[in-house]
Amino acid sequence: MSHLPPRPLAARRSSPLVGTVRVPGDKSISHRSLMFGALATGTTRIKGLLEGEDVINTARAVTALGALAEKQGDTWIVKGRGVGGLSEPLAPIDFGNSGTGTRLMMGVIAGQPITVTMTGDASLSKRPMRRVIGPLKQMGLQIAEDRETLPLTLTGTDQLLPIVYELPVPSAQVKSAILLAGLHAAGETTVIEKEATRDHTERMLHFFGAEIRTEQKDGKTHITVKGDAELTGRDVTVPGDPSSAAFLVCAALLVPGSDVTVEGVLVNETRTGLYTTLQEMGADVTLTNPREEGGEPIADIRARFSKLKGVIVPAERAPSMIDEYPVLAAVAAFAAGDTVMHGLAELKVKESDRLAATAAGLEVNGVRTAVEGDTLTVHGTGGAVSGGGTVATHLDHRIAMAFLTMGLATEHPVTVDDTAMIATSFPEYLGLMEQLGASFQT
Ligand code: S3P
Repeated sequence: MSHLPPRPLAARRSSPLVGTVRVPGDKSISHRSLMFGALATGTTRIKGLLEGEDVINTARAVTALGALAEKQGDTWIVKGRGVGGLSEPLAPIDFGNSGTGTRLMMGVIAGQPITVTMTGDASLSKRPMRRVIGPLKQMGLQIAEDRETLPLTLTGTDQLLPIVYELPVPSAQVKSAILLAGLHAAGETTVIEKEATRDHTERMLHFFGAEIRTEQKDGKTHITVKGDAELTGRDVTVPGDPSSAAFLVCAALLVPGSDVTVEGVLVNETRTGLYTTLQEMGADVTLTNPREEGGEPIADIRARFSKLKGVIVPAERAPSMIDEYPVLAAVAAFAAGDTVMHGLAELKVKESDRLAATAAGLEVNGVRTAVEGDTLTVHGTGGAVSGGGTVATHLDHRIAMAFLTMGLATEHPVTVDDTAMIATSFPEYLGLMEQLGASFQT
């Protein structure tokens, strides 16, 4: 993506946003369904797969490794090769912008006796991989380079050792990479987490037939997977992505007269911290029609324009809303009083340094902020927000969408310097927003 010319766009004050829509499939579950399908025997059929660039890169990656992933009608079909059955690709594999695709695939590659070179775009090539490489090396993965950033050449093995590993940072990607490697090890691999992170890997591995258990010990979660595993191809339905729905919901809260419903959204509690926070701010956000889809809880989310007040967002909540801080910060600009967000260390190593990018984007649009250590404070106006600035997005889709959201309610348009990256996670974003009544200008 990074070689394409930037596509700037401005969001201007919107008339009411009204309507009922669906958002594309959850990104985390989409990546996993392709990879687990590749490691299963037989065929996996996936409905509702997110067709964003990140996930398409994962589909290409599993195909390059010998497990054909292709779309037939409205269904993605993956022909699995079985645990340990993937083959060496003919060329380096490009993971584009995706940290999830890269890190989870490192866990998969660790268990195959093959050599794979992994590459990525300018943003991905800056992101820390040591957090994944460290534990995978303990299990037996070899890395040609003495570095922690892409491009990297990995050599896996069919002799992986099981480990017990306590996560130094709350990261579902690291947890998942180790569990995926653990499927291939001789014996049980345990990941210990102090703070719960999204549990889609645990749920889906169980669904595909792996022996996996979760226990609470001394206030920590121990997740153990049995090695020499056998997975069986399954039919998967991917629920709507709550991290994408967030942009529609937040826009509805900010634009007077709005009333938006997003149907069929994943509401797994490891993902819903934003919605809890918005309700604490006084937002009229309701989760209705709760049901289950593909082993995950889903609901319809309705949001109406609301007068908001600033709140303190505790650090413990960060893992359940880690991708939502930029848009929460944009919303907080309009709330009465300060919104204080603690525990944001991990925000600094996302597709961009999101802590810095968010604060800078707010400041350039007339919103006062303070960053102290891992805490971001947004001084909300409780009324009008100036806007009028141009936001640097740093190849980060969520920075782009967060500030377009903000511009729908500011006095002057908010410009983002590039919208091309939105296609990595939410290619339908601009179209859906226009369908609800938003207007953007190039
Ligand atoms: C993801 C985990 C999170 C999140 C990312 C998707 C996943 O990253 O930010 O968008 O699918 O496991 P970390 O594991 O780095 O927190």
